[in-house]
Amino acid sequence: MKISIIGTGYVGTVSAACFAELGHDVICVDIDESKIEQINAGIPPIYEEGLSELLKKHAGKSLSATSDYELAVKNADVSFICVGAPSDAEGNIDLGIVKAASARLGESLRRRKDYHVIVVKSTVVPETTEKVVLPIIVQHSGKRPGEFGIAMNPEFLREGKAVYDFMHPDKIVVGSLDKKSGDIVASLYSGLNCEVTRTNPRTAEMIKYANNAFLATKISFANEVGNICKLLGIDTYEVMAAVGKDFRIGAHFLNSGAGFGGSCFPKDVKALIGKAKEIGYEPVLLKSVIEINEKQPARMVKLLKNKLGNLKGKKIAVLGLAFKNDTDDIRESRSILVIKELLDSGARVSAYDPMANENMKKLFSSIEYYISAADALRGADACLIITEWDEFRSLDEEFDVMNNKLIIDGRHMLAPRKGIEYAGLCW
Ligand SMILES: NC(=O)c1ccc[n+]([C@@H]2O[C@H](COP(=O)([O-])OP(=O)(O)OC[C@H]3O[C@@H](n4cnc5c(N)ncnc54)[C@H](O)[C@@H]3O)[C@@H](O)[C@H]2O)c1
Repeated sequence: MKISIIGTGYVGTVSAACFAELGHDVICVDIDESKIEQINAGIPPIYEEGLSELLKKHAGKSLSATSDYELAVKNADVSFICVGAPSDAEGNIDLGIVKAASARLGESLRRRKDYHVIVVKSTVVPETTEKVVLPIIVQHSGKRPGEFGIAMNPEFLREGKAVYDFMHPDKIVVGSLDKKSGDIVASLYSGLNCEVTRTNPRTAEMIKYANNAFLATKISFANEVGNICKLLGIDTYEVMAAVGKDFRIGAHFLNSGAGFGGSCFPKDVKALIGKAKEIGYEPVLLKSVIEINEKQPARMVKLLKNKLGNLKGKKIAVLGLAFKNDTDDIRESRSILVIKELLDSGARVSAYDPMANENMKKLFSSIEYYISAADALRGADACLIITEWDEFRSLDEEFDVMNNKLIIDGRHMLAPRKGIEYAGLCW
């Protein structure tokens, strides 16, 4: 089938490359010309394992990119909206980009004679597809629902494992108002070994939020238990290893540490809180999930101050800037809050991340960036580990170059080492 993908960020680029791999013809649309050039040259605009190979294989053949909506819609049976839906200043969802993309899609649809399905893949709060996107398409296309299809197809991929997750999903959810458009969207995934859950758009939207809110809740729960364990001198990892054996709970997402970041969990939980309040419900649990998460990075710096005293002029090595391992994405990374707190306390920060140095430079231009952990650790008075990069597990002699061998491990990565003062965040 012929597909257009609107927005070539993490979700759009991965979806485009994977749909091409599934045998579809894909045309990407973005307002960022540099991304268009990169995709057409077979170069991923973001880092994701396996993405480079897929783009090299399909770019210039079944995969291309353009800034021309009309060209894309003319050459597609289905268009996916994959643009961002960030938080506004209050944490509520900001649908400005989704609305702009919907308007452009509607205009392009005006000149199409045959059936075309518009699919919302961006994470949007319940009712958005029906009450926001659909009316904009109707207004700008001059067509009635039924003359075109509308569906909601949330994305569940994990950054860092996005290509694998797209090709090996544990669920595919398609919400549509009519059977025809739902059938078309479901058929795009027929090459994957996964049942398609069919529902209406608002339920599909809610499934995505419930999914992310539950995972975020698990993390904040583990952090709260971890904080209590630390005060009691109990190893929370031992506790959670046993708790996770309960089949009703499961072992994943029970690791306590510096908290969750990224472009999804914080924003999505806040958006759900905003939507709940809008309809007159006070989401007590979800508010606590965010509150616990916001406090974890500050707990790391507090622990550091307890050990070192005044941080003024002290050199603190921050290992890990990306919000998680295997990505260059720093959005809502816990390292941002930690670095800010360190700088506010007068510390000097030397930072290292295997992939995210360049992205972090755009936020903090004045801190020192290094190309290896050893370089960042040289002369440091303490080291904070924030991101769970595999290469940090094997650090050993690298700590010898520190001025004061103190490690505060925000991810429970290192085994205590002789000659090094080691402190866990929650253990
Ligand atoms: N990143 C993830 O892991 C993930 C996972 C599941 C769902 N989602 C959801 O998917 C959506 C996209 O997320 P992302 O991380 O890929 O975002 P992103 O910010 O990485 O990418 C969005 C892209 O849209 C482009 N864009 C902006 N305005 C546009 C317009 N009017 N027309 C065309 N393109 C435009 C931007 O230039 C950018 O390339 C969000 O709603 C997000 O919550 C993200």
